[in-house]
Amino acid sequence: MSDKKTKLPFLSLLRASWQPYKLLLGYLLPYKTRFILGIACGIGYAVISGLFPLIILFVGRQVFGGGSGSFVLPGAIGRLAEHLPFLQESAKAGTAGILAACIIVPLVMMVRSSFSYLNSYCMSWVSFRMLRDLRRALFAHLLHQSMDFFNKSKSGKLISRVSNDVRVAQSAFISVASDIFKDPFSIVVGAVVLFNIDWKFCIVTLILFPICLVPIIVFGKKVRKAGKAEEEEAGAMSVILQESFLGIRIIKSFAREEFQADQFTRSSEQQFRNSMRVKKSMDIVQPLIETVSAFGVTLALLYVYFYNIPPEQLLALLAGIFLLYEPAKKVSRLHMLMQKALAASTNVFALMEQMPTIQDAPDAKEITACKGAIEFRDMGFSYGPDIPAVKHFNLKIEPGSQYALVGPSGAGKTSVLSLLQRFYDPQEGCIRIDGKDIRRFRQQSLREHIGVVSQESFLFHDTIAENIRFGRLDATREEIEQAAKQAFAHDFILAQPHGYETIVGDKGCLLSGGQQQRLSIARAILKNAPILLLDEATSALDSESERMIQSALEGLTTGKTVIAIAHRLSTILKSDCIVVMDQGNIVGVGRHADLLESSDIYRHLYQLQFHSHKTDEKP
Ligand SMILES: Nc1ncnc2c1ncn2[C@@H]1O[C@H](COP(=O)(O)OP(=O)(O)OP(=O)(O)O)[C@@H](O)[C@H]1O
Ligand SMILES: [Mg+2]
Repeated sequence: MSDKKTKLPFLSLLRASWQPYKLLLGYLLPYKTRFILGIACGIGYAVISGLFPLIILFVGRQVFGGGSGSFVLPGAIGRLAEHLPFLQESAKAGTAGILAACIIVPLVMMVRSSFSYLNSYCMSWVSFRMLRDLRRALFAHLLHQSMDFFNKSKSGKLISRVSNDVRVAQSAFISVASDIFKDPFSIVVGAVVLFNIDWKFCIVTLILFPICLVPIIVFGKKVRKAGKAEEEEAGAMSVILQESFLGIRIIKSFAREEFQADQFTRSSEQQFRNSMRVKKSMDIVQPLIETVSAFGVTLALLYVYFYNIPPEQLLALLAGIFLLYEPAKKVSRLHMLMQKALAASTNVFALMEQMPTIQDAPDAKEITACKGAIEFRDMGFSYGPDIPAVKHFNLKIEPGSQYALVGPSGAGKTSVLSLLQRFYDPQEGCIRIDGKDIRRFRQQSLREHIGVVSQESFLFHDTIAENIRFGRLDATREEIEQAAKQAFAHDFILAQPHGYETIVGDKGCLLSGGQQQRLSIARAILKNAPILLLDEATSALDSESERMIQSALEGLTTGKTVIAIAHRLSTILKSDCIVVMDQGNIVGVGRHADLLESSDIYRHLYQLQFHSHKTDEKP
């Protein structure tokens, strides 16, 4: 949001803040009943606060007048009070009357406090509901972003947006929403009452009030700027935290604990400075206003001295001034809070407005009865403006056949698999499944028909059973075990301390690499999708592991259309067809023996990658 200089800062603020506020209001709407109830209680509280000087004046007259004075309130309010018989009767009733009158003070205070509590209860309720909804919406929105979005974003920053900025936005919003009705109301009612009691006194007291606007405006701007920096740095901080815990093995291997800790220290140092800047700007306003109002009080006292104000009236006026003081203080903070909410909610809604680059076509359909025929038609794709990752890619894969993709690192193999899953759309050409462009299917339906075992097998910090169930959420325990058996994982799972209920640790760190891979194969077996993509790990597993994974994969691939990025000779030899890629191009298609003859790149790869340590697996 631009920080344009304008002669009317309040108007420009209103304009700038309207958009995020309008969006926040959308989240408020479902809870409008409670919100309105909260506001009503706030107004009830405000009205009682405003009228309180009258009660003091009344009680004061009783007490200072020895209970005998007839009860006369000034101006129109006085005329109204003459029609309230209980006031008049208690006024005439002597000492008993004084007692009755005095009891009014705690009674009124009790009602006022109840309103205050209910106001705060309703507002908090609405506020936490909004927080929940907004977080949920933001999180779901983020999950639906396309891959390019995640390639560019730091996940720690996103975490901070969901957990931190949303909280700041909603809490500031709700206190603004609550106070914007309550406090101006208190001030107006209070001012009317005070004017009614003694208008000259009020003018003398409040004459300096406009001066207070200056610090509010000046420091409001600072809060907004510093608030934005504060949110940014909070994001940077959670980036460091998140990466440190995720990369803890690397950090320890390189003995970089101190280095990471220093980075964190720098970030928290910066965060300290930012928070102080916000706090300073927010807190300087109040003392400034207090100082100005102290001059007001001086003027008021002089007025009292020269005009001989009776004590009960002074008491009422002072009570009124003090009760006005609280909401006035809050109103002065309102502007600051609005600025802070603005900084945070601008961040949040900027994310909410970002639409996924890949979206379902309006008439996108479900895939029905997928046979698994895949065709790449003159496909061209690049991640950025510069170098294409895949060029003129033409390939037709019959249903149920098994293809291997081989090629040097960076040849574009993983990119082809990503394009098939529609993580990205090719800039040229198209991909067809069963003769239909994949852009005509719903993304979710497309991906439900594609099973993936990827290079790094990601496991969640959950039980083994739940990790396998991720492949098909409605799978029964028997199906899970069946899948594990097919993946040659059942035996090692039973050997774990709690069998299928064993927690695998963060990213599966309590299991070996080969075991993790077999779990992700079991997951894919459970999914039972007609198309299967394998991105084999480059790391050489020991031959026992290798053999088991190979057998596991066999259980997975039978009858499926398979594209495997092959780093294992066994996969290559089993394939119906091998596709050799180099720099985004297909440079050879055929079977192993033919390619050894015809393709230099393949021969080179074979010698480098497979031949050296797989001499026992002669073709
Ligand atoms: N997310 C990305 N953003 C930008 N460029 C990318 C991205 N992913 C890959 N690339 C680039 O695209 C090209 C092809 O990468 P790709 O991951 O498809 O290679 P690969 O054949 O799978 O390599 P490897 O065998 O090492 O896994 C490379 O030049 C790479 O730098
Ligand atoms: Mg790859």
